[in-house]
Amino acid sequence: MNIPAEFTLQRKNKFDHSSTVRWVLSHARPYAWIVVMIFVGAIGNAVLAAVVPVLTGDAFNAMLKPQPDTSVLLPLALTIGISQIIRGVLQLGRNFGAELMAQKMERDIRDELYLSLLGKSMTFHNLQPVGDTMARSTNDVREVNYMFSPGVNLVVGSFMFILMPIFFAPRYHISLIATPLIFTVIYFIALARYLKQLAPITDEVRGSFGKMNTHLSESLDGVEIMKGAAQEGAEVERFSINARDVRNAFVLQGDLEAKYIAMLLLGLAYAGGLVHALILYRSGLIDIGAVIAYFGMLQLLGFPTFTSTWAYSQISLGLSSARRILELIKSETKLDQNASGRTSNMVGEIEFRSVSFHYPNGEDVLKDINFKVKPGQTVAIVGQTGAGKTSLAKLINRTYDVTSGKILVDGVDVRDWNLASLREQISIIEQDIFLFSRSLSDNIAFGKPGATKDEIMSASIAAQAHDFILDFDQTYATTVGERGVTLSGGQRQRIALARAFLTDPRILVLDDSTSAIDSATEDKIQRAISNAARGRTTFIITHRLSQIRWADLIIVLRKGTIAAIGTHDELMKTSEAYSRIFRD
Ligand code: UTP
Ligand code: MG
Repeated sequence: MNIPAEFTLQRKNKFDHSSTVRWVLSHARPYAWIVVMIFVGAIGNAVLAAVVPVLTGDAFNAMLKPQPDTSVLLPLALTIGISQIIRGVLQLGRNFGAELMAQKMERDIRDELYLSLLGKSMTFHNLQPVGDTMARSTNDVREVNYMFSPGVNLVVGSFMFILMPIFFAPRYHISLIATPLIFTVIYFIALARYLKQLAPITDEVRGSFGKMNTHLSESLDGVEIMKGAAQEGAEVERFSINARDVRNAFVLQGDLEAKYIAMLLLGLAYAGGLVHALILYRSGLIDIGAVIAYFGMLQLLGFPTFTSTWAYSQISLGLSSARRILELIKSETKLDQNASGRTSNMVGEIEFRSVSFHYPNGEDVLKDINFKVKPGQTVAIVGQTGAGKTSLAKLINRTYDVTSGKILVDGVDVRDWNLASLREQISIIEQDIFLFSRSLSDNIAFGKPGATKDEIMSASIAAQAHDFILDFDQTYATTVGERGVTLSGGQRQRIALARAFLTDPRILVLDDSTSAIDSATEDKIQRAISNAARGRTTFIITHRLSQIRWADLIIVLRKGTIAAIGTHDELMKTSEAYSRIFRD
């Protein structure tokens, strides 16, 4: 299935998304040669392990002859020694191969998941809790790794061990095949039942872990609010409930593992096989060496029994995790990159035609918005909090898509523009400006990674940010978020403006929340903004009267509709609502 994404970055391998198992297999496919190696190693390991009881039986027979033949002992001992060295080398290759494959798959899955997360729309990211996404992209990916090493590796290895007694028992007497055969049949029936019961439990284990992480990341994000409201106690309470759910899920898994019948089955197989062999011996059908070899062979069943409990849990956990990762990768995203859309240089004319918009499952936040802006004009959007100013701005670069109506840029519907091209030419400076924990110059050059030092500096000067940056010890190399370096709202805004100067967009949207600052800073920001507005279409969302006044067009929003529109002079005459703002 081809899911429309914002940015489908090119990747080498295409993975099958039709089912969890197919998806995991499609990730394993590039490493088919390692799988072959694992099988060769596992078969070699099992055969060479079976060599030991066979040769031990032969040694007993030689010793129990009326005249013991000691000359065969040395060759037998040497054969056992050499076979076990070869087994060791094969084991090394197999375990190394499995680990290599698991790590490579983990990397590939991480890459695929990260690419798909970056390609998703804001609608998706707003609804998907970050903590859960983090849990899926770290721990769940790791579980898929464990599923292969040790999980699948041990399952393949132990499967070969189960087969050995079935192959070798007829060597002594055909009827001796009964015990390993019955063991194998019951083992797999029990296993199938076990896996069926395990699946919902491991789903619960992974799910509750994701939930706990969601809560953890949210309370760390909101730690300031939490402390401010003295809600630590309540949060701790909520966290322990989540932690208890995780514990309960794990305990449930342990409980089921403990009840798994394989161990009992092994004991019965030992006892039954021994009795069977002794009866054959008493009837003179096999010799004592055969009894010893056969019993040694039955011991091989111990390995699959011991490993099966947790090796299969590991696979079940891995599949649950894979399901969660795939769910995230496949989750629908509404925006479409529209790679074949228009890519030309923008002039900067914007028109809203009967635009209405609501967030998913919400009421209309914008209703029937109509206006037209000429290239290079400055538009001020004013209105009370919650009026829809930010929402209106986010429609222009398709952070969200309109619910009805259309937005035209240079006469072309924004949905008909190539999304990358549209966004490259429109800059939005958000209401709360996010800075990465990187150096100030990296933050400024975010939209233009190749920018030179000079370019960064002149952008900062134009944005009135240069002076305060020089006040830091390490100036442009200062890392945000390190050693207590954080920036004030006004400073962040000027960093964001410097970003905009560098990328030089045709359309600039400035969602300005800093209304109350000292007049010196106010003056600087004022100058930075008028520098930025020059030569491009600019939207300013602001409460600052001085900025509103010199705008070419003023849009007064009230509860999602345009209450008044025009220039300052016009509105002062015609709009009661507008002139009231200036009178107060
Ligand atoms: P806006 O965020 O567009 O309002 O939300 P605004 O005019 O910019 O407000 P201020 O001045 O920054 O405070 C408009 C409506 O959209 C809803 C809000 O609840 C509000 O009623 N909304 C906003 C959502 O439902 N989801 C969102 O992600 C954002
Ligand atoms: Mg806003």
